[in-house]
Amino acid sequence: MIPVKLSAKWCNNPAARLAVVIVIAVQSLGAAWVQEPVQPRIDEEVAKQEKIYRRRGAGSYTANRGLANYAEVLPSGFCDALGSLGSSDRWLDIGAGEGRAMLDYHAPQGEAAPEKCGGSGPKARVVAVSIEDRRTDAWKQQAASLGDDRMRYLSGKRLSQYSPEELGKFQMITDVYGGFTYTDDLSRFVGNALNLLEIGGAFYTVLSSVHLEDGKHKLGVWYRTELVDAASRPVTVCSWLKQVSCAKVTCESMSDWDEPSELITMRKVCSGVTVPRTNLVEYMAGAPPGRRFQLEP
Ligand SMILES: C[S@@+](CC[C@H](N)C(=O)[O-])C[C@H]1O[C@@H](n2cnc3c(N)ncnc32)[C@H](O)[C@@H]1O
Repeated sequence: MIPVKLSAKWCNNPAARLAVVIVIAVQSLGAAWVQEPVQPRIDEEVAKQEKIYRRRGAGSYTANRGLANYAEVLPSGFCDALGSLGSSDRWLDIGAGEGRAMLDYHAPQGEAAPEKCGGSGPKARVVAVSIEDRRTDAWKQQAASLGDDRMRYLSGKRLSQYSPEELGKFQMITDVYGGFTYTDDLSRFVGNALNLLEIGGAFYTVLSSVHLEDGKHKLGVWYRTELVDAASRPVTVCSWLKQVSCAKVTCESMSDWDEPSELITMRKVCSGVTVPRTNLVEYMAGAPPGRRFQLEP
């Protein structure tokens, strides 16, 4: 850690003392990333993360965001794109939790507020994927009344463990604080998601506590997902995603949110998707976890 010398003037100023405490805390976290041997610690943290997925009740994470919440945190084109899906189109939600957003989307008119996002026209078939089964009675009833091929819920595996045939192709994929935020293999995750899209389809997601494309930084923020190049220089998630072939990437930087967040749209424009490889160099279990990836040269 870099030593910090305090003058008497600084010691008597509460705001300055707070700033110093924040700097020391941020430095300590930075040091926590690098001091111990890496691989055993990553294994330990990944094991801890498994327990987080299984937790229920107060210690668990938020897994019941509805469609209105999705509309707030996903890129601005999401609701219109959802509204333009036809009844034979398919929407995949990766890391769906309880699947409430899809339940709202398929709710009978007037019950939820689907007209605010996704319109009131024909509804696409939906597939919710979650590591753990968080289906509610409401989901089960609605899926049963519509027939299973309109509302599927798959659990017990990660996205990477499904074959392309098991899932099929989709016109839309969303991920709200799901696999994109939690995966320990970011490049494989992005490649898998894009391979599941039809050409012309789009992947909508959000990543919080990241270095933003617009370059605005907040004092005292701990960046939960960090990317560095082969020479360990910081790289933004968006600049990395813009190197993916066959994808048109748009980023909306939310620098004024409590946690600086990037709202990301990736439209698939051809079939030869290749994603520049990232290697995991640090992982700290959490909801969400802390992750540091290094790009291969
Ligand atoms: C914090 S919850 C978010 C749930 C929902 N999107 C919401 O906003 O309410 C995280 C979800 O992501 C899932 N998840 C994490 N990594 C995943 C992966 N690689 N593949 C599939 N699901 C994953 C978890 O099982 C859980 O359902």
